[in-house]
Amino acid sequence: MDPKTMNTEKPISRRKLIVYAWIGAAVVVTGELIVGSFAFLWPKKTQGKGEKVFVAGKVGDFKVGEIIYFRKEKTFIKKLEEGFLAFSAVCPHLNCIVNWNEMLKKFECPCHGATFDPRGQVLVGPPPRPLDLYKLRIIDEKLVVDTASPIIRKNFDPSQVVTG
Ligand code: FES
Repeated sequence: MDPKTMNTEKPISRRKLIVYAWIGAAVVVTGELIVGSFAFLWPKKTQGKGEKVFVAGKVGDFKVGEIIYFRKEKTFIKKLEEGFLAFSAVCPHLNCIVNWNEMLKKFECPCHGATFDPRGQVLVGPPPRPLDLYKLRIIDEKLVVDTASPIIRKNFDPSQVVTG
């Protein structure tokens, strides 16, 4: 027999093939867990991108006490007796998106259990400050919201309310 044509490699056993498959699967799962954990903990940097200014509607479209969510712009508009507030829906802890709970009348963050009152102030949880505000102007009876630069605040202050 010609030694050049001889196959010197041993065929892999079924047992070894299964062991290698399990090791490969374990590596993939472990990698997904590590990447997923870091992705969860790492702040998202999507805030402020995309559309910067939008018209939320006419002043008369909002009822006192109502909170309307604009999903694409990640913005809540709250109508108070005295005027309007435009909140960022991005949690100031680690940037998860908060939800408005109409029954309990508070914002809730699904990530670490924080809650915020209807003026965006922290009730419980780890966020270091209230929900950020967006610059809001009333032009020709329309609410114009600028989401380019969130307004960071320490507390609610009546001067933050935009009156028509
Ligand atoms: S992201 Fe942690 S409480 Fe909202």
